[in-house]
Amino acid sequence: MCGIVGYVGKNDNAIKTIINSLEALEYRGYDSAGIAYINDNHINIVKRQGRIENLKKDLNLDINSNLGIGHTRWATHGVPNEINAHPHKCGKITIVHNGIIENYSELKTMLIDNGYAFSSDTDTEVACATIDYLYKKYNNMLKALQKSIKILKGSYALGILCDDNLDTLYAVRVSSPLIVAVKDNGKFIASDVPAILSYTNEYYLLDDGDIVVLKDNSINFYNKELESITRNSFIFEGDLEEVKKDGYEHFMLKEINEEPRVIKDTISYYFDGTKASLMKNIPDLNKYKDIHIVACGSAYHTGLVAKTLIEEIANIPVMVEIASEYRYKKVFYNEATLVILVSQSGETADTLASLRKAKEDGIDTLGIVNAVGSSIAREADNTLYIKAGCEIAVATTKAYSAQLALLSLLALKLALINNKISDEEFNNLKMQINKLPEMIKELIKSEKYRKIANKIYTREDIFYLGRKIDYAMSMEGSLKLKEISYINCVAYAAGELKHGTISLIEQDTPIIAVITDKDIKAKTISNLKETKARGANVILITNEVEKDNYYDEIISIPNIHPLIQPIVTIVPLQLLAYEIAKLKGCDIDKPRNLAKSVTVE
Ligand code: F6R
Repeated sequence: MCGIVGYVGKNDNAIKTIINSLEALEYRGYDSAGIAYINDNHINIVKRQGRIENLKKDLNLDINSNLGIGHTRWATHGVPNEINAHPHKCGKITIVHNGIIENYSELKTMLIDNGYAFSSDTDTEVACATIDYLYKKYNNMLKALQKSIKILKGSYALGILCDDNLDTLYAVRVSSPLIVAVKDNGKFIASDVPAILSYTNEYYLLDDGDIVVLKDNSINFYNKELESITRNSFIFEGDLEEVKKDGYEHFMLKEINEEPRVIKDTISYYFDGTKASLMKNIPDLNKYKDIHIVACGSAYHTGLVAKTLIEEIANIPVMVEIASEYRYKKVFYNEATLVILVSQSGETADTLASLRKAKEDGIDTLGIVNAVGSSIAREADNTLYIKAGCEIAVATTKAYSAQLALLSLLALKLALINNKISDEEFNNLKMQINKLPEMIKELIKSEKYRKIANKIYTREDIFYLGRKIDYAMSMEGSLKLKEISYINCVAYAAGELKHGTISLIEQDTPIIAVITDKDIKAKTISNLKETKARGANVILITNEVEKDNYYDEIISIPNIHPLIQPIVTIVPLQLLAYEIAKLKGCDIDKPRNLAKSVTVE
């Protein structure tokens, strides 16, 4: 998603600082980049389509400037080109923008009637003209920004310059992340923490409707009523190393290699091996008899896994819903409903809207979040943090695994509350949990993924199959592969195959099958035999020792308690996707068209 950076300081290196910070946000995904900087009492704007490298070629980084704003754009309104790239300037106002202005079309008509002309297709230029229009009316920037917040509908974070105050950087936040940081003589705004980590790890979070005014010697926060306010600062727990590749070829590979540590950190934060720790560290769940899990993408897939675990082991019904559907559909709650929102970023627009919907209906909410202090983390009644650290690769891996780990603990707690786990089973599970990091490390070491990838990476279609929890795992495996390799792959419930999909199976069509659920294993095997009979190339990921003729390749994984089995099952699925995408020469960490944090609906 778009990246915003703004800097004002006593030093004259604003351009270098802004470019450096924008580069730290590259992982978010973007298709053009731009900067506005002040030099010789004049605002200069340079923007280019494509990577920041293109921008740098046409920018003199050594020009003196102590104030500027920069942006990486992920196109929403209008194609990715230079005209639509940010910053935009209208009259005396220059802005960079993340998010969406929902009523931009009506505002554009009003502004055209008032003499404004537009050169881009963006909602951002409309926001810029709106602020300029209000600035002309009130002749006061703070008042203009306050009124703009009332008029501009949607979710947005803005970095703003005004021709009349060339020593000042303004920023506004409405439902789109924005942080503020201060280091020695420099002050920053940014859409995410990595942008500031070369300078400081302390940052302020803005609330919805906040306005910030930064000068080289002052920083002032205002609320919607233009009252002066203070905001709490946070310390980012990781460091710059965390956002560096550390010798790995890709962030995705680095992050998969971090899974053993992340799983250990997430589990040990809530569970020290005693039932008492789970009871204390995870909120009281006694009263809930009905659970809704709401999320998007991979986070939604963790919900599907959790549904099977909670229903089958804890015996509580769970509904899992994609957030963009949930927020608009009729939902049936009762007084014993808990709504769980799963989100790595804590800023996903649809998940946040679903949280707000549940809260408006008076339903208890629980966030499972990675980004500390993010909107979902702050707005949910309770929040449990996963301990994944900063995830840079657009395709989630370690955060997905940490979400699984935390949801498994939640299922365990619910199972204990409902007396569904004997002491013996609990002790056994505890021992296996301790061994999880080693098991994952062993799986990561295998050379098998590359060998299998070599045989299938040129295929145009790949199918994933599984039943029940293995179907949920297949869905995540398939999403991982399609997003980073651009291969058209789909996950099917194995029993559904013969209702249509089997017509797609040809000689050598790769089928990646997951079998970890013993109870349903025989059924999936029959389905695989049906595909084999039609020429499929079956790659089996299983926790069973298999010697048979219904597969061509086998990846063996440890056979452990169902509550934690998914945490190891996912490793081969992630690594297969990685190796295939690598052989195809794809931009693994920044797949085309994708964004790390989806703050628009
Ligand atoms: C896929 C991926 C996405 C996210 C989804 C939700 O690899 O990363 O599908 O899982 O956009 O994001 P969060 O978890 O930030 O709400």
